Amino acid sequence: MFQIDILTIFPAMFDSPFAEGMVSRAKEKGLVDIRVHNLRDFTSDKHSTVDDYPFGGGPGMLMKPAPFFEGVDFIRKTHPDAAASRVVLLTPQGRCFRHETALDFSKRPGLVFLCGRYEGVDERVAENLADEQVSIGDYVLSGGELPAMVIIECVVRLLPGVLGSSESLVGESFSEGILKYPQYTRPAVYRGLEAPPILLSGDHAKIARWREEQARLRTRLRRPEILTEVPAECGEKVKKLEKGYEDGNA
Ligand code: 6GU
Repeated sequence: MFQIDILTIFPAMFDSPFAEGMVSRAKEKGLVDIRVHNLRDFTSDKHSTVDDYPFGGGPGMLMKPAPFFEGVDFIRKTHPDAAASRVVLLTPQGRCFRHETALDFSKRPGLVFLCGRYEGVDERVAENLADEQVSIGDYVLSGGELPAMVIIECVVRLLPGVLGSSESLVGESFSEGILKYPQYTRPAVYRGLEAPPILLSGDHAKIARWREEQARLRTRLRRPEILTEVPAECGEKVKKLEKGYEDGNA
């Protein structure tokens, strides 16, 4: 079973996202185990202090290293697979999370998420405890909790057996390094707005060509950078990762 451990000062934030929808179904099916740990449980002073002033001065508080190190020790002691799990620090300083990162994460025995807060985390956590530092985009959030939820949602749906056959991963946006084509359902005309007649034509070859063209067009217009700078390197990596996924897990 895929093992996920989270270290946070706001464990209750994770209650409802993991109690509903796809992640909760994956838990019920026994495909993933998620443990949320309160960082304050890994402090040793009577006020359960998790932050302190930065050496050298400056604004704000930093999260102390000890609760993270002690927390990871506990996680590793209480879960045999956790030794091989990837330890991920959520920080805007990290490498940007992408579809290929999700595929990579989904192939490990598990993940440990370290959620930072305040103005940052003692650099020893980043350098000596985390295997990698990940960000979910170029904007600032006040903590790593929401990014951890985003990443977990993204990784769990890639685990074998989580999605039903009607929710295939094939053809999703990004799985082919490109955005998804536009989609329509009944009615064919709604408030005078027509669905593209080609989709009602029954000509499957024509429909496939139209979709491919639309996907490329939309990607060129909205996300030109994923057709140029990214796919050269990441497109190949995604293909390789997805191939391993088909061979190994599916
Ligand atoms: Cl991982 N953390 C925070 N605090 N802000 C972010 C982020 C992470 N990713 C994007 N913004």
